[in-house]
Amino acid sequence: MNQTQLLKINGLKQYFPIRGGFFGRKVNDVKAVDDISFEINKGEAVSIVGESGCGKSTTGRAILRLDEPTEGTIEFNGVDLLSLKRKDMKKARKDLQIIFQDPYASLNPRLTVRQIIYESMDIQKHVKRQDREARMFELLELVGLQRHQADLFPHEFSGGQRQRVGIARALSVDPKLIVCDEAVSALDVSIQAQVLNLLKKLQKEMELTYLFISHDLGVVRHISDRIIVMYLGKIVEIGDNESIFENPKHPYTKALLSAIPVPNPKKKSERILLEGDVPSPIDPPQGCRFHTRCPFATDLCKEETPQLRTTDGMTENHQAACHYINEIDFEKVKARV
Ligand SMILES: Nc1ncnc2c1ncn2[C@@H]1O[C@H](COP(=O)(O)OP(=O)(O)OP(=O)(O)O)[C@@H](O)[C@H]1O
Ligand SMILES: [Mg+2]
Repeated sequence: MNQTQLLKINGLKQYFPIRGGFFGRKVNDVKAVDDISFEINKGEAVSIVGESGCGKSTTGRAILRLDEPTEGTIEFNGVDLLSLKRKDMKKARKDLQIIFQDPYASLNPRLTVRQIIYESMDIQKHVKRQDREARMFELLELVGLQRHQADLFPHEFSGGQRQRVGIARALSVDPKLIVCDEAVSALDVSIQAQVLNLLKKLQKEMELTYLFISHDLGVVRHISDRIIVMYLGKIVEIGDNESIFENPKHPYTKALLSAIPVPNPKKKSERILLEGDVPSPIDPPQGCRFHTRCPFATDLCKEETPQLRTTDGMTENHQAACHYINEIDFEKVKARV
């Protein structure tokens, strides 16, 4: 793997103000992302996973500056994105694309696929007019669509095909990083696999770097080089694919892994069931944010915030934020189902 850094996020915070009262003053904040740092190397596929509302999409949006982050830095290809003026940010967006869960909502229903792709090329003005058609057909072929489909409208496609249109549009500007926000979540399992395989193939062919966002660890398992597990705005564990799946250290990661269905019904899964709901990101719990739902929490967890760290039995790039790494006896709460 090429180890050149493409994206470096440092101390990112995204607070959304809550206004109230007679004067509409700020009364509190939704701490959607609360001080996270991570890096992505060129050619890597990194996934952010976690339950609904933990700040995954907010992180993705911050990278594209769709929201203005509250604090922190986002370096892309050596450039501090947050310092760019509007015009320069527009140029930088050529290298940064995002694919959403629902391509229907993000594709203009009044435009044909041809027009959608031309529009995207024209915004960045990097393909000459006379070359647009050839490039558009090339893109359709790349994502497995037929030439004659160029003149169809989004509603004339199936969900999986529509997502392919979304991918073709993202690729039309030759991006370096693609953020896939729940890009396959709405699709049937078999179509999910097709689209994921397509993304994997494109990654090799076009030297792409991916940031996948998903609430389901199972979905990103085969496509991720590294995985970031988020809980209530914070990173609780980060590591390469094997470390997260074979040697998870944070009880929350264990619980997420327990939620993945086991294909062989004879092999009983070992489950750690998560009880209760995710607390509010307006007033997140003190200490370890996971302590209110963690079966192993002690007084220390209620008082002190654990930092990401590596200990014995963990690979160099594997970190978890738990006071009791290696001390937890998961057998104790494991319920066999
Ligand atoms: N523009 C906004 N204004 C106020 N609050 C917001 C805004 N965007 C997100 N939030 C809040 O920030 C938190 C994180 O939201 P985010 O969309 O990042 O979650 P997510 O991890 O992507 O969840 P999901 O899996 O449901 O997509 C949520 O509590 C959400 O309500
Ligand atoms: Mg989301």
